Amino acid sequence: MPAELRFGIIGCGEIAVQTCAGISAAPNATVAMLMDPRPEVLADLAEFYGVPTTTQAEEVFSNPDIDAVYIATPHDLHAPLGIQAARAGKHVLVEKPIATNLKDADTLIETCRATGVKLGVAYLAQVDAGAAQARDYIHAGLLGDLIAVRMTALAHKPDYYWQGGYTRRVATTWRQSKARAGGGILIMNLVHDLNTVRWVTGLEVQRVYAEYDTLATPVEVEDTLGAVLRYTNGAIGVIQAGSAMPGGAHKDARGPRIYGTKGQIILGDPPLIYRTEAPEGSAPNTWSELRYSGPKGDRAEMIRRFAEAVLNGQEPPATGEDGRKALEIIVAAYRSGEMGRPVELPLET
Ligand SMILES: NC(=O)c1ccc[n+]([C@@H]2O[C@H](COP(=O)([O-])OP(=O)(O)OC[C@H]3O[C@@H](n4cnc5c(N)ncnc54)[C@H](O)[C@@H]3O)[C@@H](O)[C@H]2O)c1
Repeated sequence: MPAELRFGIIGCGEIAVQTCAGISAAPNATVAMLMDPRPEVLADLAEFYGVPTTTQAEEVFSNPDIDAVYIATPHDLHAPLGIQAARAGKHVLVEKPIATNLKDADTLIETCRATGVKLGVAYLAQVDAGAAQARDYIHAGLLGDLIAVRMTALAHKPDYYWQGGYTRRVATTWRQSKARAGGGILIMNLVHDLNTVRWVTGLEVQRVYAEYDTLATPVEVEDTLGAVLRYTNGAIGVIQAGSAMPGGAHKDARGPRIYGTKGQIILGDPPLIYRTEAPEGSAPNTWSELRYSGPKGDRAEMIRRFAEAVLNGQEPPATGEDGRKALEIIVAAYRSGEMGRPVELPLET
């Protein structure tokens, strides 16, 4: 294995542009090949990175100069393409969500395990030093016993988003489709918060009750969702998510919140902490910025850490199992909303 991880990019739409920049900025990774079925989205990236392009994924999978693939396609293709890549011996870094259903997620995880390739999910929490500091504090007991969690994903997505995302790089309607995207704001955006809270707290969900609907947007997927979660330690979580919320989230209302018997943490920018028992020399019962050292979770850091893990034969910072855990809560929430009653985890796939 070379000192640099050579990536083949599968899907060169909106987010691939940013991830290619992240790969380029990472000291241990390089963009080596670009693939998309639409030749028109390959041209600008090919010119910038000066690497071969193809419209056939098989050409990436069979290329001996590619070590890993980064999959940034519509959600329903994550698992099928990841499975093909793993069978060809390529390490897999897949965009969130890992899949649109648990069966696909399991097949992808199992195929990577059986073929001996590493599987990572492109979450940012696991590579964010602020989230890591919050995690250390929580595990050291600074917040006491965890009793509640609040997660929000509130946006006012413009009409054009549903035909091509925020940048309109690719004219496409997959984001509107339940079959292609798996759902709306919950699986598209709140998936990050579910992963972040799980990674930072270690809490696992045992029951979900959700209500969701499409109330203000002419699309198939949900634009409004509320859910209550019960965690295995007894803590209670709430989710509020919406993609048609005028004003979106006020800056003071961003970031997951974690409440304990001795304080709380807001994982915003910057992260904040409130403690009833402050360290010597500072006042109790006050808010302060949660200080940390190290990189903020961005795409270059996500790539650097994934490449480092693969090159050293270790597990990536965000694993396939991490991807599956967030997806399981999402699937449970959708089932709950459909049936109008709480759903227990673990789910039968
Ligand atoms: N846009 C964002 O801000 C953002 C941020 C983080 C993660 N993501 C995730 O990245 C993924 C892609 O989202 P996007 O916004 O870039 O979408 P997009 O529609 O802009 O790009 C998807 C690309 O996949 C290509 N594609 C379709 N079928 C393909 C196939 N069979 N093989 C290879 N490529 C194929 C499309 O032609 C398109 O270029 C999604 O999982 C999304 O949730 C997006």
